[in-house]
Amino acid sequence: MSMFDPRAAAAALAVALSAPLAAGAADKLPAGPGLGQDAPAALVAKWDISITPDGAGLPPGSGSALQGALVYVRACQPCHGPNGAGVTGVTGGPLTGGIGTLATDQPVKTVNSYWPYATTAFDYIRRAMPLTTPQSLNDDEVYGLVAFILSIDGIVKAADVLDAKTLPAVQMPNRNGFVNFWPEPPKAFKIGG
Ligand code: HEC
Repeated sequence: MSMFDPRAAAAALAVALSAPLAAGAADKLPAGPGLGQDAPAALVAKWDISITPDGAGLPPGSGSALQGALVYVRACQPCHGPNGAGVTGVTGGPLTGGIGTLATDQPVKTVNSYWPYATTAFDYIRRAMPLTTPQSLNDDEVYGLVAFILSIDGIVKAADVLDAKTLPAVQMPNRNGFVNFWPEPPKAFKIGG
């Protein structure tokens, strides 16, 4: 008879592992280091604001470019320039223009030239802008701002009203400019070639 019987050892280990669980070990675990606190629902709600490219998560409300223009001049223009064209020496950068430049030697990446989905602009602006007072705008104002920015390059018309239904239907100029590598690279694409 061998000194070490792997099957007996495995069986003993299984018993050792399962016995405490069977006795309700989870109840007996220490409570933890006692750090932090439960996040209140109101705090979670403030962060639970992601909008997917198809528009899932967009809130009620609406706005047009005409309405958004007023908010833009007050809250965005100092950093992003008149009509989103950017201001020399200010870090906000341009939000508009650059359409048709992406495949050139000097690509200008803006919301209007580069971003594949208009819904992302709503998510980003509501979440992060104005830079110094993020989440200070209401949803109507954000819909209006997106409409205004898109209208500058003719992606929507000045009178178009954007809301949870119409915003996801907006076709961005660079909608098909991204290469999808998941679940595998496109057949025509050669890495390094
Ligand atoms: C105090 C200056 C400031 C103000 C005011 C401001 N922004 Fe910005 N914004 C920035 C900076 C700086 C960035 C770049 C942030 C980064 O890259 O992390 C930025 C980035 C952005 C972007 C992303 C651009 C891109 O191509 O990645 C958008 C969209 C935008 N801002 C919209 C707005 C809108 C709309 C307003 C008005 C509600 C606004 N911003 C007000 C400074 C500002």
